[in-house]
Amino acid sequence: MRSIIALSTLSLAAISFAAPAGKRDAYPNGEFFPLPNGFPNPSTDQTKQIELEAFGTLPNSPPPPKISTDGLTNLKLIALNELFEVAYFTELVYNVTNKLHGYDLGYGHEFVLDSLKAIVAQEELHAINTNGALQNFKAEPIQPCKYSFPVTDFQSAIALAATFTDVVLGTLQDVNQVFAKNGDDGLVRAVSSVIGNEGEQEGFYHVLQSKRPSTLPFLTTSVRDFAFTAIQSFTIPGSCPNINTIPLKTFKPLNVLSTNIKAETQNLQFSFAASDAGTQDWNSLSLVYINQQNTPVVKSLQNPVVANGVVTFQAAFPFDEFEMNGLTIAAVTRGPGPFASADDVAQAAIFGPGLIEI
Ligand SMILES: *[C@@H]1O[C@H](CO)[C@@H](O)[C@H](O)[C@H]1NC(C)=O
Repeated sequence: MRSIIALSTLSLAAISFAAPAGKRDAYPNGEFFPLPNGFPNPSTDQTKQIELEAFGTLPNSPPPPKISTDGLTNLKLIALNELFEVAYFTELVYNVTNKLHGYDLGYGHEFVLDSLKAIVAQEELHAINTNGALQNFKAEPIQPCKYSFPVTDFQSAIALAATFTDVVLGTLQDVNQVFAKNGDDGLVRAVSSVIGNEGEQEGFYHVLQSKRPSTLPFLTTSVRDFAFTAIQSFTIPGSCPNINTIPLKTFKPLNVLSTNIKAETQNLQFSFAASDAGTQDWNSLSLVYINQQNTPVVKSLQNPVVANGVVTFQAAFPFDEFEMNGLTIAAVTRGPGPFASADDVAQAAIFGPGLIEI
């Protein structure tokens, strides 16, 4: 077992030992599936092999006899997300295996690769299990999209993985809440077991970034619509065969322009497309932050400036008042609330989710 100290030197290694392998397109046109192991529709033998690589099996207990409509939406969203994650980590394993430029880790290479391969297989089982449940309930399984990822080196790939995994960790809270509200208690235990798995992954991504494995006492919550929107920022538009069977909301993009955001109270800069706002009265809009299990924080848009159809503005970020570590989800809403919960924010949101990690 390697020490934390050895792992935290990986970021240096990634920079100083980058191999001149150059860019190679492993998945032309963003087309990942089917994988060589048959995923997303592996045979029985192939599934057995995935279980070996995942160091564990699909649940073999029968699913509950019935599910609510909202519960089905939960499963569809989870399937969409897991398919995206399989694509992402499959490509990351490819890049590290082949030591593409920016992906040669030097010391620690084998340990990281071994960990990432287990994650790929575990995500494959999450997806197979969820699409299997959909089939069991006579619903259409979710089909994979084509994907494109905005990263070209190991450190930014891990930072992005940490961010979207945090969104998943928040959204699965919402999924369990929705199951609970609709009497789908038979699905809560399995989803909770996946939350733990994703949390273990998150700790690993933190250590790889020389961050503490555990961020917050109570992780930031999210709602399904935010995750649904965030996943689509990694899909090639029009490439998801049956995403239209998922009845969730897609928000317009909110760009977080500030970079390397420090753990301190400050103003942050954001932008959105003016024509998507449905108003030109910028004072009628609010910038809302969701962090931990706290009541959403509402701030006004300061100094909105419109140029070339883009609205740029600042908003106060009250880090010290609420200890806003970990994931913060930002959204621009119609009106100032007050918003009692993340659900209320999503109800009133036009732009989002802006993802901030501290
Ligand atoms: C893998 O490397 C290619 C080439 O640099 C890059 O385009 C892609 O985004 C990378 N994927 C991941 C998940 O790091």
